[in-house]
Amino acid sequence: MHLLPPLLSAVLNIFAAFVSLLILLAVIVAIVLYVVDRRQHKDAIRHNYPVVGRFRSLFAYLGEFFRQYFFAMDREEMPFNRAERTWIDRASKAEGNTMAFGSTKNLNLPGTALFVNAPFAKLEKEIDEPEPLLIGPYVENPYVPPSYFNISGMSYGAISRPAVLALSRGAKMAKCWMNTGEGGLSPYHLEGGADIVFQIGTAKNGCRNDDSTLNEDKLKKITDNAQVKMVEIKLAQGAKPGKGGLLPGGKVTPEIAEIRGLKVGQPSHAPNRHPEISNTGELLDFISRVRSIAKKPVGFKTVIGSSLWVEELCREINHRGIEHAPDFITIDSADGGTGAAPMPLMDNVGLRISEALPIVDHVLRKHDLRDRIRIIVSGKRITPSAVALSLCEGADFTVTARGFMFALGCIQAMRCNKNTCPTGITTHNEALQAGLDPTEKSHRVAAYCHSVRMEVDMIAHACGVDAARQLSREHVRIVQESGHSVSLEELYPQTPS
Ligand SMILES: Cc1cc2nc3c(=O)[nH]c(=O)nc-3n(C[C@H](O)[C@H](O)[C@H](O)COP(=O)(O)O)c2cc1C
Repeated sequence: MHLLPPLLSAVLNIFAAFVSLLILLAVIVAIVLYVVDRRQHKDAIRHNYPVVGRFRSLFAYLGEFFRQYFFAMDREEMPFNRAERTWIDRASKAEGNTMAFGSTKNLNLPGTALFVNAPFAKLEKEIDEPEPLLIGPYVENPYVPPSYFNISGMSYGAISRPAVLALSRGAKMAKCWMNTGEGGLSPYHLEGGADIVFQIGTAKNGCRNDDSTLNEDKLKKITDNAQVKMVEIKLAQGAKPGKGGLLPGGKVTPEIAEIRGLKVGQPSHAPNRHPEISNTGELLDFISRVRSIAKKPVGFKTVIGSSLWVEELCREINHRGIEHAPDFITIDSADGGTGAAPMPLMDNVGLRISEALPIVDHVLRKHDLRDRIRIIVSGKRITPSAVALSLCEGADFTVTARGFMFALGCIQAMRCNKNTCPTGITTHNEALQAGLDPTEKSHRVAAYCHSVRMEVDMIAHACGVDAARQLSREHVRIVQESGHSVSLEELYPQTPS
C-alpha cells in the first residue's frame, strides 16, 4: 500500500481536526440559538421555527438589494423600474439610447400616454428652440429660464456635498436651474455658477428666526446674490403633504447645522406648516412680503388635494389684483420622492401629477390667470416621454429630483434616510462619498439634461410641431381600462362646467 508522505498526512489531520471543531462550534451555536429562540416570546416565527426562522429577516433584508438584479422584470419595480433607470444611466454617459427588437412596455396599461403622431413629421432642420417664457412680469428682476427641464429641490443635508457640487456644475453646463431644497443656500450650490431657485421651507432654514419665522435680513442677503433667480415657498411636497422636512440627527453635521441655523447632531424636524401661513390670504401676503425683499419672482410649491382650493386662490388673486399673484406654482405629485417621510403620507395623500396638473391648468385658465402664473411640475417625470407628457398636459416647466439622482449614479438602494447611501449621494460618510467625483458626475448631470431635451424634441417633431413647447393637449391620448385611448379633452374638459 502506498503511504502518504508524513508532511501531507499531518496537514490533512490538522485540516480534519479544524473542520470537526467548526462543526462542533456550529452545533453549539445552533443549540444556544434554539434555546434562545424558544424561550423568547417577542417573535412568533423564531419561537415556532427556532434557528431557521432567523433566515427570514436575513433574506427580507438582502432581498431589497438583490431583487433588482435577479428577480424583477425590466418594467415592474417601484418607484422606478430598470428600463427607466437604464435609460438615464445611458443618457448620462452619452452612450446613445437606441434599443433593439421592440418595446418592452405594456401599452395596454390604463394611464399609458400615447403621443399623437403627425402624418408628416417635421424635418430636423425645421427644429426651433423652445420659446422662452418669462416668469415674474411685475418684479424688478424677472427671470427667463433657458431650459424647460430643471433640477428639483433637494437640500444640502438630504444630499451630500459632492452631490450638490456635481449638480450645480452640471446645471451650469446644461443651462438649467437648480433648486436648493429647504436646507438653505450653501457655497456648493453657488460654486458651479448655475441659476439658483432658493427654497424657503417651513423651518426657513438659512433665513430663520428661532421660532421658524422669516428673518428678512438673512433672506435679503441670500436673494441679493445674482445667481439666485427666484424664490419658492414650500407649502408641501408630494411625499409628505402636511409634514415638514425631516433630517435625521446623523446628517446634521457642523457645517449643515451652521448653514441651516440648527444644533449639531440634533434631528431637524421642520414645522408641518409655515407659522405665518394658515389661509389663502396669508399665503398671498407672505408671497408679497418675500417678493418685496427679493425683488425677484416668487411662487410656491404644493400638492393638490382638490380643485376647490385652487378656485379659492384664483378668486382671492383676482380680488386683490393680478400683480399679487404668485409668479409660479410648482405642483408636486403625490408619488414624489423624499429624503425621509412617513409611509401613510408617502402612499396615500394628495393627487398624482397626471390628475393635479390638468386641474390647475384648467382652473387658472377659467380665472384668466394662466398667462400670469407659470406652472412647474414634478413627480416621476424623469424620461423624455414623461417630460413631453407634462408639456402636453399644460406644464411650462418640468423639474426632477430623482432623475438627476440617477444621473449622479443612484442605484435606488432606498437608503436616503439612513446616512448609508452606497453611492455617496445621500450620506455624509466621507468614505461612501469618495466614489462620487463631482467633476465626473457633473458631466453626467449635463448629458442627462441634454438627452431629455433632445428626445422631447424628437417626440415634438413626430407630432408635427416645431418645438417642444408647442406640444399641447391634442398631442396625447391616455389608455383606459378598456385598452382604448381617449384625448385629454375627453378626460379633463377645458370648458368651464
Ligand atoms: C433626497 C431628496 C431630497 C428632497 N428634498 C426636498 C426639499 O428639500 N424640498 C422639496 O420641496 N422637495 C424635496 N424633495 C422632493 C423633490 O424635490 C421632488 O418634488 C420629488 O422628488 C418629485 O420629483 P421626482 O419624482 O422627479 O423625484 C426631495 C426629494 C429627494 C429624493
